[in-house]
Amino acid sequence: MRSLHDCPAPAKLNLFLHVVGRRADGYHLLQSVFQLVDRADTLHFDLRDDELIVRTTEVPGVPADQDLIVRALRLLQAEYARRHGRLPPGIDVAVEKILPMGGGLGGGSSDAATALMAANRLWQAGLSQQELMDLGLPLGADIPFFLFGETAFAEGVGERLLPVRGPDCWYVIIEPGVAVPTPAIFSAPDLTRDTGRVIISDFSSSYEVSGKHRGFGKNDLQDVAERLFPPVAQAVEWLGRHGDARMTGSGACVFCAFSSEREADQVVALVPGTWRAWKAHSLSRHPMKSLLQNQ
Ligand code: C5P
Repeated sequence: MRSLHDCPAPAKLNLFLHVVGRRADGYHLLQSVFQLVDRADTLHFDLRDDELIVRTTEVPGVPADQDLIVRALRLLQAEYARRHGRLPPGIDVAVEKILPMGGGLGGGSSDAATALMAANRLWQAGLSQQELMDLGLPLGADIPFFLFGETAFAEGVGERLLPVRGPDCWYVIIEPGVAVPTPAIFSAPDLTRDTGRVIISDFSSSYEVSGKHRGFGKNDLQDVAERLFPPVAQAVEWLGRHGDARMTGSGACVFCAFSSEREADQVVALVPGTWRAWKAHSLSRHPMKSLLQNQ
């Protein structure tokens, strides 16, 4: 096999995100539920005759050597060389990008995870899912989740993952027109960093949690993001008129769940024209998992 085309890299939503502590290296300890949704970038991979990793589609503002897909593939290439004593063939990667950068939807991490899954297959590199997750983690705390590929309760910095059953629903997602840099949110002095830990006992239809806690089910990064980026606050306020609106990740996107597609369509139609908005359905499983199993 020399090509893998039409590989999806779906977005994620953080149904809640609590900051429960901080590691010695400054990274924050989180508790979150990660939910995949069916809005995705699309990636195409073609083996090359040389050993170069080339992203053939530009990402505005991102130098080629900082591109997360290229960095992830170089890590896998090095691991392949360590195991096999030679480099694998290079790869051309083309990306049809629809997920916003700085949106909290994990687009960049998802692209990198899809690239790792595809290259592992094309090169027959033979890394296990856990080995790919370990390889991807230093590049971004969300990458292990996308390789895990199922709705998950996440702890640690996002690398300790437990499968949970997420709600089967439609989401309206608003992109408030700002890109939020994740480090700016995590480094804010007024960020809440001591939310009590929760234990998920069941996640089928509602968040059922045991243990004493306050403020379960919010995004602890949201207050800071709303203060630093007022369009986020405006989107939360607007979408909050239609349900429980919440920010995903470190922002900027804001979402709200609906039980029917019709309700979601109605709300999308009302969203002010200054914002981009779309509906998405929950995905219980990463589409690349079955795609790779069927090769
Ligand atoms: O890993 P990722 O690229 O998503 O993180 C970007 C930055 O956000 C990190 O350099 C760190 O400053 C901050 N961060 C954090 N705790 C996390 C995730 C990210 O402090 N769990």
